[in-house]
Amino acid sequence: MSREKPKNLWLSRWGFVLAATGSAVGLGNIWKFPYITGEYGGGAFVLMYLACILAIGIPVMITEIALGRRGRGSPLDAIGRVVRENNGNPAWKAVGGMAMLAGFMILCFYVVVAGWAFAYTWKMLDGSLAAPSVEALGAVFESHNANPWALGGWSVLVALLTLLIVGKGVQAGVERAFRWMMPGLAVMLLVLVGYSFSNGSFGEGVAFLFTFDASKLSGEALLAALGHAFFTLSLASGAILTYGSYIPDGQSIARTTFIVAIADTCVALLAGLAIFPVIFANGMDPSAGPGLIFMSLPLAFQQMPFGTAFGVLFFAMVSVAALTSAISMIEAVVAYLNEKHGLSRPRGAALAGAVLLVISLLAMLSFNVGADWKLFGMTLFDGLDYLTSRWMMPLGGILMAILAGYCLRDGIMRDELGLSAGGYALWLFMVRYVSPVMIMLVFLHALGWLGFDPLVRWYWVLGAIGTLAVLGELLRPGMQRARVRA
Ligand code: PHE
Repeated sequence: MSREKPKNLWLSRWGFVLAATGSAVGLGNIWKFPYITGEYGGGAFVLMYLACILAIGIPVMITEIALGRRGRGSPLDAIGRVVRENNGNPAWKAVGGMAMLAGFMILCFYVVVAGWAFAYTWKMLDGSLAAPSVEALGAVFESHNANPWALGGWSVLVALLTLLIVGKGVQAGVERAFRWMMPGLAVMLLVLVGYSFSNGSFGEGVAFLFTFDASKLSGEALLAALGHAFFTLSLASGAILTYGSYIPDGQSIARTTFIVAIADTCVALLAGLAIFPVIFANGMDPSAGPGLIFMSLPLAFQQMPFGTAFGVLFFAMVSVAALTSAISMIEAVVAYLNEKHGLSRPRGAALAGAVLLVISLLAMLSFNVGADWKLFGMTLFDGLDYLTSRWMMPLGGILMAILAGYCLRDGIMRDELGLSAGGYALWLFMVRYVSPVMIMLVFLHALGWLGFDPLVRWYWVLGAIGTLAVLGELLRPGMQRARVRA
């Protein structure tokens, strides 16, 4: 066995769980999940998203953490080392490179959204959210975005805070922050759900989220659900792989993954349950887009006892949750610069930060002066989101599944995962057959290259997975023998 020696490790047994949950739980759960669920019409989308988490997200996350811990380093180096241990093709490193690029691209628009959360914490305090209706709150949101100085100022603040923490090293800061943050956020969300239950159109909200309406299924929604599963679990973006490289040997990767995925999913569903009842009670359109939570929640805060204090705390929590996610997006790049180019952490953060500031400010302009600067019909802000979530992350996921499922020698992952025989067989089945086939079908469908709709002809999908599995298992022993002889 040739394990890499770890250079940095989490401080405590719970270090990775806290940090990975910190990375996973963020604006994706509280801002993006409700707004895209609203755009794609509710229950059908939620179901597709949950299916993607289970069939693709969890197996890929286990794989990614294992690759990180085995290779001990930034995504590029870690994958490079694992492949070298296997005498494989060094070109696989490109998967790590693409993941780092995706994480960085996400951060460039994420700081703008995090800036909204920071700004709304302040706006709760100074009374500018005391608007009487959803329309009036929509106007507040729009005028905030129309001013590039305000919007840019908040984005820069978020970027600088992120760089400061990453420059110092994530272990201490993130682990400590998360100990009180997660329970705090959970309590806030529960109180908000309680408010929605007693004062909102709770039944309508629940029906919207959980009623399965097959007519709402579409290839585009499926691609969005797949992309969101990757986004919300921070997969194929360098974050989880790099954090995984700091886990001590011997800790169970699979168990940890389940804890993180369950916590992440619960936060998203709670956010949905808190928000949609308020939206329906106020006659608001659930497909209002990225401003959804900023136009609806302040109204709920106004109407509840101690609403202002509560609203301030809520947006402050969301800001911290966003920050712990943002940190994880750039950690891979800083670790890479440190490891490969000998740059100290603060210098690495400063270098990456300079690029980040330029691109994020350009992305911020998508909401005001640059609203008409479009490429393929998309602003820079939308384009960064679309490219990363819909294409780069699922592509990274399928490649990592293929690497672990087909290319690595059997012992490597078996040794790294330390699962029971049944658990290992299940993981292998998922990364060999289920996750890649499903991602492939979603891609082909979204590109319009598939002659049928995989959601309607789901039995063809199961058939394809089954056939591939049987063929694969029959042919593999022969292929392996051939490889050993060669
Ligand atoms: N998972 C984070 C969220 O839901 C976003 C994220 C994506 C974080 C990619 C790291 C890497 O907000």
